[in-house]
Amino acid sequence: MKNKSLKVNLAGLSLENPTMLTSGILGYSALTLKSIAEGGAGAVVTKSVGLKPRRGYANPTVVQVDCGLVNAVGLPNPGIDEFVKDIREAKAVLTVPLIVSVYGFSAEEYAWVAEKAVKAGADAVELNVSCPHVKETGIEIGQNPMVLAEVVREVKRAMEKPVFVKLSPNVADIAEIAEAAVKAGADAITAINTVKAMAIDIETAKPILSNKRGGLSGHAIKPIAVRCVYDIYEKVKKPIIGCGGITSWQDAVEFMLAGASAVQIGTAIALKGPGVFKSVVMGINTYLKRKGFRSVNEIVGLAHRS
Ligand SMILES: Cc1cc2nc3c(=O)[nH]c(=O)nc-3n(C[C@H](O)[C@H](O)[C@H](O)COP(=O)(O)O)c2cc1C
Repeated sequence: MKNKSLKVNLAGLSLENPTMLTSGILGYSALTLKSIAEGGAGAVVTKSVGLKPRRGYANPTVVQVDCGLVNAVGLPNPGIDEFVKDIREAKAVLTVPLIVSVYGFSAEEYAWVAEKAVKAGADAVELNVSCPHVKETGIEIGQNPMVLAEVVREVKRAMEKPVFVKLSPNVADIAEIAEAAVKAGADAITAINTVKAMAIDIETAKPILSNKRGGLSGHAIKPIAVRCVYDIYEKVKKPIIGCGGITSWQDAVEFMLAGASAVQIGTAIALKGPGVFKSVVMGINTYLKRKGFRSVNEIVGLAHRS
């Protein structure tokens, strides 16, 4: 849907509407990313990629629970040197911005991967500093403001494109972490990654996931994510990308009122299908008209009015 009132400028990226495919739900393939963009997403984020190939964990890696999914896939990926082919292919067919999600085990690794992704055509990178289930990357970086700041600085030194930093809710004060990322040069903050969780099979009396612990996504985490966005908006002046449990246009609007300039959708695609983008975008549009707003940007942070 092309409509001036839905356009968003996200740290220099021009989006036709504020919805984005979140990282990890649909992998890397150019054709999948293209089909999501054609289905209405304003931008797409790839699954996280690292310096070297990783197999990820043995099955089961994802379990459906009443209120969403618990996953511990273990960051399986082909490694950036292989993945640059997919980035080039995706760039050739996409008409929306392509954001490559990257992770590393040190600041240098994040920077190397980000640099290669951008050279291959990524319009921006999103730093996954929030994976709850792989040791020595993800949350172990994203929960320490000093370590996180070093990662962001190193990535900013290595490349010129916008850097989004994706944060974890599994911390005492997410706004403090966001502030550290922005001071180090982050161009936008994505909030949130999954919430630490697990599921146990009562017949076998064993944890269901091979990794035992994982991260919860889906509708149950929405109020947590909305609170995180609200807290971050009060602390930092950079755009926030809201993520976590969005399944309807009402959810998307709620995130924007809390302070999100754009929203990412993941589990709802797995559970409801890719049509979710179109219905969210159309719903936001109808809401704007009904409320008399000329642009979606006018509702960002409105819930903070005293
Ligand atoms: C199966 C699965 C794989 C995921 N892989 C990644 C990943 O590679 N990188 C990342 O930053 N987030 C990953 N996530 C987290 C999502 O991007 C998102 O932050 C989270 O699921 C909350 O959004 P949702 O409730 O809309 O799914 C994954 C989530 C799921 C369910």
